[in-house]
Amino acid sequence: MRFATLTAAALALSSAAAVAQDYPTGPITIVVPFSAGGPTDTVTRLVAEPMSKTLGQQIVVQNVGGAGGTLGATQVAKAAPDGYTLLLHHIGMSTAPSLYPDLAFDPAADFAPIGLVTSVPMTIIARKDFPPNTLEELIAYVKENADTVTYANAGIGAASHLCGMLFMSAIDVELVTVPYQGTGPAMTDLIGGQVDFMCDQTTNTTGQIHGGEVKAYAVTSPERLDSLPDLPTTAEAGLPDFTLGIWHGLYAPAGTPQEALDKLNAALKTAVADPNVATRFAKLGTAPATAEEATPEALATTLTEQIALWKPLIEAAGAKAQ
Ligand code: MLT
Repeated sequence: MRFATLTAAALALSSAAAVAQDYPTGPITIVVPFSAGGPTDTVTRLVAEPMSKTLGQQIVVQNVGGAGGTLGATQVAKAAPDGYTLLLHHIGMSTAPSLYPDLAFDPAADFAPIGLVTSVPMTIIARKDFPPNTLEELIAYVKENADTVTYANAGIGAASHLCGMLFMSAIDVELVTVPYQGTGPAMTDLIGGQVDFMCDQTTNTTGQIHGGEVKAYAVTSPERLDSLPDLPTTAEAGLPDFTLGIWHGLYAPAGTPQEALDKLNAALKTAVADPNVATRFAKLGTAPATAEEATPEALATTLTEQIALWKPLIEAAGAKAQ
């Protein structure tokens, strides 16, 4: 009996190893925890294209919005660890533990990091007929009209929420916020004039700013962007300590076979080294991760450091999700 059991276990191990060696043998899904058409969706589709070519399999982008990105992240945390369901998520992975007391996953324990993808600056923008014309005027206007001004975000823990939280803390004002499943739909309402202003990533705002569809006040990068040379930095515009970069990572569920993780990491590294990806990212105010950043170790370190960094900031702002 014992011999038969050992043989069965050996067979099971060898077949799992064979499956992982042949990986991928079918389409791969990357879950984006926000609506289609937003910044996270844009970043994902830009790297999914070259990754698909390297892996020789179709990559399906699935948008799962809600609760600041935590619904989509939970879905992947609980997915089969076979390399066919991945998550592309951003800074929200590090803020969720401090914002959601009943979070259904542990960002470090329940995921296998594949690598960093990019880090994106944010822009403070408003509907184009919003009265303030400079960041200084915006701050004064918002303070004066705090009860009526509306701020759009993609839910508690989203980058748009965090940027708004820091902005409100910096100017000591509490605003009416309008949550969306992503800043794709939020941008539609901003352009339509249904909401007043928001802070969103350049991967979603650069085109609208160039097109005059929205009014832009500042960018949260330390230096001005080549893609938006006329837009002052928050430091220039009067908020010197207000810089924010939205880092993005690619994850698999914990327990995914190492062979699959290695192939996914190799495909990510090829994608971020692709000149076409660099060109398209540059037009959107950002740059792909370097080879050193596109590693599991770099993502794991960033995640741990950011969880620790955001905890006191969130507690100070009293921004817990109910
Ligand atoms: C956010 O954090 O605001 C999200 O990135 C918005 C989005 O990707 O739709």
